[in-house]
Amino acid sequence: MALFKKIFSKKEDKVSKGFYLLTVDKVEKNTSDTAVVSLTIPEELRSTFQFKPGQYLTGNFKTSQGNFHRSYSICSDSADNSTIQIACKKIEGGKVSSHINDQLQAGTQIEFMKPEGNFILDSNAKKVTAICAGSGITPIMSMIQYIERVGGQMDLFYGSRNENEKIFKSEIDRTSDKISKNYFLSGENKDGFIEGRITPKTLEEKVDLNSDAFYLCGPEGLIFSTKDFLVEKGVPENKIRFELFTTPVSVKAKDIKSGSATCHVAVTLNGETNEMDVDTSKMLLDSFYKNGMEAPFSCKGGVCCTCKAKVQEGSAEMKLNLSLTDKEIEEGYILTCQAVATSDTLKLTFDE
Ligand code: FES
Repeated sequence: MALFKKIFSKKEDKVSKGFYLLTVDKVEKNTSDTAVVSLTIPEELRSTFQFKPGQYLTGNFKTSQGNFHRSYSICSDSADNSTIQIACKKIEGGKVSSHINDQLQAGTQIEFMKPEGNFILDSNAKKVTAICAGSGITPIMSMIQYIERVGGQMDLFYGSRNENEKIFKSEIDRTSDKISKNYFLSGENKDGFIEGRITPKTLEEKVDLNSDAFYLCGPEGLIFSTKDFLVEKGVPENKIRFELFTTPVSVKAKDIKSGSATCHVAVTLNGETNEMDVDTSKMLLDSFYKNGMEAPFSCKGGVCCTCKAKVQEGSAEMKLNLSLTDKEIEEGYILTCQAVATSDTLKLTFDE
């Protein structure tokens, strides 16, 4: 009952737990359907919002159609700690992407979680290869700026349908020869562009298999066909990182059954521990919300890792994981949006 009271007495203007209020400085169109949102980071939050090139921000967006959590990749240079930029491509029927592209104005305050994500530029790599399409360029843009400023080399393979849909094209054109540019267009034939989609066949002629790291970002077809191609050519899997924006249709979730129907869970979030009995056939995150606990999440599809928590006692298994690293799994992390309890009792924390 105490928990019930606490949630329903929450004031509207209070910042949600685990979120920080940032102010929109400007919203600029980069292409006709992609907006770049610049957010001002107040001095006291600058260390909290320090990010690594490739990471993303999860926001709690208040739109005319309701409040939604969404994650957007950071596209700015990590050296600038007073402003962070995210890019958002408008998708058909997208409530938040339409809101950002059509309505969001300078001066609006939005709740954001601190930067997250494992799709991070290896700062020790001398040469990296980035293979992306569409809005998959967004996290790569942040990596490009790091390489331009600090040093290194990137072979960039960047696909889109048409030239005018190429997000950050003029910004990338202005970079030095540290960035080797290979632009693909699948919907038109133009000078300076390679005609067609990025495929294993086109990569075969151009990609340097000895790159120190490979970053893949874009539609699932591009990511999985490129990953398979690289692995087939002998590139070790630990050199290949990928970032999906949506849950892939080609990946099947595991069927997991627990011995007991319920599990007693003790879960810590922002220093507070709540205990509850959960149905072991339901995802842990859903059970937390059913019990009034506002745990962090964004995609709910296993791709973003915003909902990750660490198992301290007991066990839980994931039906799907497209974002946690093997090391994180070894350390006991799970995606709560994809995990079910597999023990009679479970202790976990969002705070580590
Ligand atoms: S909310 Fe994105 S992985 Fe769970």
